[in-house]
Amino acid sequence: MKKIAVFASGNGSNFQAIIDVVQSGELSADISLLVCDKPDAYAVERANTAKIPSFVFQAKEYGSKEAFEQAILAELKRFDVDFIVLAGYMRLIGPTLLSAYQGRIVNIHPSLLPAFPGKDAIGQALAAKADWSGVTIHYVDEGMDTGPIIIQERVRLDENETRDSLQSKIQKIEHKLYPEILQMLFTQGDVINVTKARAN
Ligand code: GRF
Repeated sequence: MKKIAVFASGNGSNFQAIIDVVQSGELSADISLLVCDKPDAYAVERANTAKIPSFVFQAKEYGSKEAFEQAILAELKRFDVDFIVLAGYMRLIGPTLLSAYQGRIVNIHPSLLPAFPGKDAIGQALAAKADWSGVTIHYVDEGMDTGPIIIQERVRLDENETRDSLQSKIQKIEHKLYPEILQMLFTQGDVINVTKARAN
C-alpha cells in the first residue's frame, strides 16, 4: 500500500476528504504524515483527530527553503513516504523535495490551469468575469502550478456568482475528484491527461 504525506497550510478540507476515503476503504493508501507550515492551521487539528502524525514547521525558523525542505525530507524518510499529495500547501516545492520525489508529487488547484495560477485563483476568476473555471489536478514541477495536467473538471460561473458560492462549488468537486484520481494513480501507476475523457 502506498504511504503518502499530505502537505497543507490551512483549513485542510481536501486533507479531510482524503482521510475520509482512506477510513472508508475507498482509497487504498496509508496517510503516514501531514506536513504543515502553519502551526495554527486547522489541518493540524484534523491530523490529531485522525491520529495521523504531523510535521509542523515555521519557515522563518530555518535559514532557507533548502534547510526546511531537508527537515521535511528527513521526516518523509523516517515514515518511509512514497508519494506527496499537496492539498492547499501555499509554498513552491524546491529542488530538494522535487529531486527526491520526481514524478511522485501531485497538486490540486482551483482553476482550469494554465488560467489563474498562483494565489487566489477563485478571486482571479471572478475579477476576470470568466464564464468557466474549475479544478485541475497536476504533477508538480519547479514552476508555479505548471506541471503536467492529470485531470480538469469545469464549473460554470453564474451571473451572480460570489466568492463563497464559487468556492463551495469548486470544493465540492475537489473533495470527490482528488480521492478518485489518487486511487487511479495508486492502482494504475502513471496517469496523465485524462482530461478529455472527463470533460463535461
Ligand atoms: C483548495 O481549493 C486547493 O485547490 C488549493 O487550496 C485550497 C485548499 O483548501 N490548492 P483546503 O485547505 O483543502 O480546504
